[in-house]
Amino acid sequence: MSKQEKINNLIKLREKAMLGGGEKKLQSQHDKGKYTARERINMILDEGSFEEFDMFVEHRCTDFGMDKEHILGDGVITGHGTIDGRLVYIYSQDFTVFGGSLSESFARKICKVMDMAMKTGAPVIGINDSGGARIQEGVNSLAGYAEIFERNILASGVIPQISAIFGPCAGGAVYSPALTDIVIMSNKTSYMFVTGPKVTKTVTGEDISVEDLGGANVHASKSGVCHFRADDEDEGIMLIRKTLEYFPQNNLEEPIQTVCTDPIDRVEDVLNDIIPENPNQPYDVMDVIHTIVDNQEFLEYSRRYAKNIVTGWAKFDGMPVGIVANQPNYLAGVLDINASRKAARFVRLCDAFNIPILTLVDVPGFLPGSQQEHGGIILHGAKLMFAYGEATVPKVTVTLRKSYGGAHDVMSSKQLRGDINYAWPTAEIAVMGSKGAVEVLEARAMKDMSPEEAAKYAAAKEQEYNEKLANPYQAAKYGFIDDVIEPRNTRFRVIRAFKMLATKKDVNPPKKHGNIPL
Ligand code: HXC
Repeated sequence: MSKQEKINNLIKLREKAMLGGGEKKLQSQHDKGKYTARERINMILDEGSFEEFDMFVEHRCTDFGMDKEHILGDGVITGHGTIDGRLVYIYSQDFTVFGGSLSESFARKICKVMDMAMKTGAPVIGINDSGGARIQEGVNSLAGYAEIFERNILASGVIPQISAIFGPCAGGAVYSPALTDIVIMSNKTSYMFVTGPKVTKTVTGEDISVEDLGGANVHASKSGVCHFRADDEDEGIMLIRKTLEYFPQNNLEEPIQTVCTDPIDRVEDVLNDIIPENPNQPYDVMDVIHTIVDNQEFLEYSRRYAKNIVTGWAKFDGMPVGIVANQPNYLAGVLDINASRKAARFVRLCDAFNIPILTLVDVPGFLPGSQQEHGGIILHGAKLMFAYGEATVPKVTVTLRKSYGGAHDVMSSKQLRGDINYAWPTAEIAVMGSKGAVEVLEARAMKDMSPEEAAKYAAAKEQEYNEKLANPYQAAKYGFIDDVIEPRNTRFRVIRAFKMLATKKDVNPPKKHGNIPL
């Protein structure tokens, strides 16, 4: 072959590889409302930034006629590129090639980009669209998965890992996304389950559809496996790019501060009126969040799961901050098992990547009842306590209204190394609400009273209790609250606190790792 023929041959091979499983199968992706593996990469990365590895890799299986079936790239496209100019590694499973199923070679390609991401300290994005383990390859495929899982585990807390599920993700394959930081699913075109509907029916007799068993809705609202349910792949791709704005490249770097176009000293009178006169009346904590953050921009994490706690990222003076806020509009903002788990994972995610945390508190306590107790609310609540207590990032807390009992301690209190703890004048920081307190403390005094007398007496005592104990000044008296602030000034005070804390250093005692109550 002449030099030119060799070059022409390379071009031909590349063209062949670009076709994956062939035009018919690529068309069938589109017919299902899905993008192809290459289209996804091109949409996620900055234009023209993709550098591909291992385009000529093939599988090495010879069983079941596989020796006659070779497709360049073997079903996964891997490489690196940039998002907003920042380096990322990416792999995209190609359903048109053997159903995107994972062979030994396929796994090696993924491991290669993961290893490079670790060496260079850059995020990894994985696009999942696969029939799972390549059946023809047997245990080699299982081993391939385990190689990936191990890398997911070692990379956890070192580099951000994002998984998008844009098609099937079944069997043990689900554990790679589950080990990553962010899971995004496209609605109606993706599903995740350990065991599919057919086996479920055989083993348990339960008749359930793919969508109801493991669709995006179910994982976003019921299991909590998925953090973002995207309406379609376009939204999913936008979310991948958006999420990374809040993350540094790795755990040794700080998140990137951008130029802030929103005045940092913006005073918001509306906040002085936001807490209803009646302490049992709800309000939407999202209104508080949107009012105080830069340009009203808030990226909510796990929006559909445990709505009684809100988690997500925003910027203050251009600096990324993770926000955790009790939501009085849903179950009165009570802490239950799911809310505790959701917030604990979020706090640890922020802490791992040096993202400061703002906590907005309005919590009546932990949800009572046998369902919660038997479900392990003790352990799950402890997770949130553990997450806050071990976090060394700057932590600013603002108590808006209720902060009762154990939930007070858990929600980034001073004693869990809260750096700056502010309260609004409407704050009620106490062991329990006035009604419960009077029932306990005054039971003996009210024992012989008529119901009318008792009601009158209790009302007076509740008022006395509220005035004496359910306010921010008891905590402020002991320095547990650093200042009681006017709600209208919250944005400015929070920004100042984070600016002051920018050089904060805090460490945990040397240890192999803690034993978080899992
Ligand atoms: C090899 C596979 C495959 C697999 C699909 N294909 N899954 N090849 N190994 N796991 C092939 C099909 O034979 C077909 O090839 C092509 O991919 C497209 O598949 P279709 O079935 O035609 O597509 P569709 O109708 O859209 O159905 C998609 C599907 C189905 C629901 C994912 O393919 C399916 O159920 N696949 C098997 C899923 C599974 O059980 N995987 C193992 C899970 S256990 P042709 O040549 O006809 O186009 C597992 C263990 C991991 O993954 C353990 C890790 C610890």
